[in-house]
Amino acid sequence: MRTENAVAPKTIYLKDYTPAPYLAQQVNLSFNLLPGKTIVTSIVRYVKNPAGVSDDLVLDGEEQSIVSVAIDGLPFTGYTLADGQMTIANPGKEFSLTIVSEINPEANTALEGLYQSQGTYCTQCEAEGFRRITYCQDRPDVLSVFTVRIEADAEAYPVMLSNGNLQDEGSLPDGRHYRVWHDPFPKPCYLFALVAGDLVRVADTFTTMTGRKVDLHIYVRAGDESQCSHAMASLKKSMQWDEEVYGREYQLELFNIVAVSDFNMGAMENTSLNVFNTALVLAHQETATDSDFMSVEGVIGHEYFHNWTGNRVTCRDWFQLSLKEGFTVFRDQEFSADMNSRAVLRIDDVNGLRRLQFPEDGSPLAHSVQPDQFIEISNFYTKTIYEKGAELIRMQHTLLGAANFRKATDLYFDRFDGQAVTCDDFVQCMAEASGRDMTQFFRWYKQAGTPTLVASSHYDAAQQRYTLSFTQSQPDTPGQTDKQPLHMPIAVGLLAADGTEIVPTQVLEMTERAQSFTFDGIAAKPVPSILRGFSAPVKLETDLSDDDLRLLQVHDTDGFNKWEAGQTLALRTIQRVMADPQADISQFIADVGTLIEQGLGGQGDKALLARALSLPMIGVIGQYLPVIDPAAIDAARTSILTQLKRTHKERLEALYAANRGTGAFEITPQAMGRRALQEAVLDILTVTNGTGCAARAKAHYDAADNMTDRVTALASLTDSTQPERAAAFADFYTRFKAYPLVIDKWFSLQALSKRAQIFDDIAMLRQHPDFNIKNPNRVRSLYTAFAINNPVKFHDPSGQGYAFLRDAIIELNAINPQMAARMVTPLREWKRYAPALQVQMKAALEAVLTTPDLSNDVFEVVSKSLN
Ligand code: ARG
Ligand code: ZN
Repeated sequence: MRTENAVAPKTIYLKDYTPAPYLAQQVNLSFNLLPGKTIVTSIVRYVKNPAGVSDDLVLDGEEQSIVSVAIDGLPFTGYTLADGQMTIANPGKEFSLTIVSEINPEANTALEGLYQSQGTYCTQCEAEGFRRITYCQDRPDVLSVFTVRIEADAEAYPVMLSNGNLQDEGSLPDGRHYRVWHDPFPKPCYLFALVAGDLVRVADTFTTMTGRKVDLHIYVRAGDESQCSHAMASLKKSMQWDEEVYGREYQLELFNIVAVSDFNMGAMENTSLNVFNTALVLAHQETATDSDFMSVEGVIGHEYFHNWTGNRVTCRDWFQLSLKEGFTVFRDQEFSADMNSRAVLRIDDVNGLRRLQFPEDGSPLAHSVQPDQFIEISNFYTKTIYEKGAELIRMQHTLLGAANFRKATDLYFDRFDGQAVTCDDFVQCMAEASGRDMTQFFRWYKQAGTPTLVASSHYDAAQQRYTLSFTQSQPDTPGQTDKQPLHMPIAVGLLAADGTEIVPTQVLEMTERAQSFTFDGIAAKPVPSILRGFSAPVKLETDLSDDDLRLLQVHDTDGFNKWEAGQTLALRTIQRVMADPQADISQFIADVGTLIEQGLGGQGDKALLARALSLPMIGVIGQYLPVIDPAAIDAARTSILTQLKRTHKERLEALYAANRGTGAFEITPQAMGRRALQEAVLDILTVTNGTGCAARAKAHYDAADNMTDRVTALASLTDSTQPERAAAFADFYTRFKAYPLVIDKWFSLQALSKRAQIFDDIAMLRQHPDFNIKNPNRVRSLYTAFAINNPVKFHDPSGQGYAFLRDAIIELNAINPQMAARMVTPLREWKRYAPALQVQMKAALEAVLTTPDLSNDVFEVVSKSLN
């Protein structure tokens, strides 16, 4: 049920795009930050856009009251206000519009626009938050030069920042002060930012490729400065990497990062003033896990890379979101791959894609990388736009090759610097720079759904000819049927029966629905390594035998496919056990024994071995089954892990002992690999949750000198009913109660438990004095951890898991609609689940839909889920 709402849900279509009626070349903003209210004065010089199709100036504005309006200095009342828009009919060719309005950042719990986080004023304008600050043409194709004056109490808000360079500052009567910032580069209003607070600064510098010195400042709350060195090092590496790999130099004199505790997403790339979730800045051995360190490096890189891919060249409209996000994710993935182990990064990225994007692409919310319509753009910051979008860029890189790809990106930056463009423009540069026709490739941007690629092979001994045949298909998705064949790069290598590589990697280009590729001069039947490096985001089905896969698992020269072969064997084994719990899986168990032996012999990369020893996660397995029943998958998984433990206990204990940490803590790929391997082994050794398991995990906890080891130990204890569990969790809480990001882990690790009393546990956590529904990190630490990362209990047949999430969605709808809509994610895929679960998931969605005053955000995802 939807009652009176400020703005009724309205679908926006890509096909309806028209250029803005007015240009806004100069924007002057002045903020008077006062207790309980902020007065915003906006003075904008508007000029009629020759490309515009309307004479009316239409400004977006929400959550503010207008104090006064003037045109060219004269009071003006001839505007109309309706549905969150101010319309001024035919105001003329060129004029200056002044709007004074009042907003209330202290009361802003949606965390869009100007709000406060622990007393610090900060902004989040992407995608449509700027309209909560002042009336504006809130669209990314209107680019303006911003001058921003901030005035506040000097003692409470000594730091006052906006984009660009500091132009002026001074003191005012009554203990107040002001600062004026000027950003010389025209930008859309979604990149505007303001920060005011009592923060401390960590400073460094970077010298660019042309020898210019850039000041680098990270602002955090007092006490957190010791946790900034990893972020600062990551920023400097990012700046250097973008120069080396893309030839991109930073153009301003200053680059600021501000960390805030209350943030809907990870971070935001506002020009020269990035605002970050503290979770993606602060990192110290005692408070951050290896995976946190990796995320900090990746997201610092991501936001920095946006400076060129997003800011200097921006999006024409929000249907082009993947233009900047897909490309920037690809850039951050490659940056992380260059800084660490490439194969490990690729494995983790593909695992994430399969676990989180594949389900989205198979749900009623499936949408293309360049969508055709939306109601609320905030709902489109998705795994499809980001991660699948990155795969599309990666495929273009594969098809063009590194040299032509670089030519194409040079052309893109040259041609479009300072402009707002489309995904089509990007692909056009790929086509022009390489001389290739990319028309068919563009279907990847328009057709939703994860394609299936089926491969079969034939060996003709007489002709010494080997043939690989493929068929591709893409499922129907909402509003889309009859998908056309995609242009697919399939990276393939061939191995001989003794494991030697006889054909090194080559990229086969598939363009038809069914297509064959032949290899001549092949002396004996080879084993193919297909889709090396996961060269296309598809579900691959092959006719490879278990023995073929075992050969690849040992000998493939492609690190990704070596791992993938083992995962496919594991997946087959899980399916066998699901079909018959008594199935003979001794071969699989023996193969894992061989891997453990190799690890004991000190052979190979420890990080890769850790991943090879890990069974696919429930969420990944579900993608390959016709009907998802998490409890059944879990039972099979647990039975296999138990057999592994029983069969290989001594060798696993030896491997665990051989990888104990010695010497000083380090964040190197080797040290992280060693810790990951210990974790994978401990996982198997503690699967039965008996007294020995609890003792072993507690010993791991007690020996820990870093957060990775502590979290590993707690994760192994969380399913336990032994007394060590409570003891370790209590110690952890007491030790870290002053560190909110660590307390988030304390919540998450308990929410992941599969033990019987989990519903009492999460109810208790929800009532815990440290729980705060208004803090997104804390909400994620309980609800996302439970609903996404604990599939067994979330999908408990009692329905209690669904009810727990449903109530939170309804509660958050009134507080933070963006967060509320995001929490619907695990319910969207209801049609894929076992019938008894489906009914209850659907009922939870229907209950949300009947909530009074449902936000557009929640309305869109829930109503589409039920379609
Ligand atoms: N552009 C940001 C990033 O990916 C994300 C901002 C998302 N904001 C939002 N309201 N959904 O780096
Ligand atoms: Zn981004």
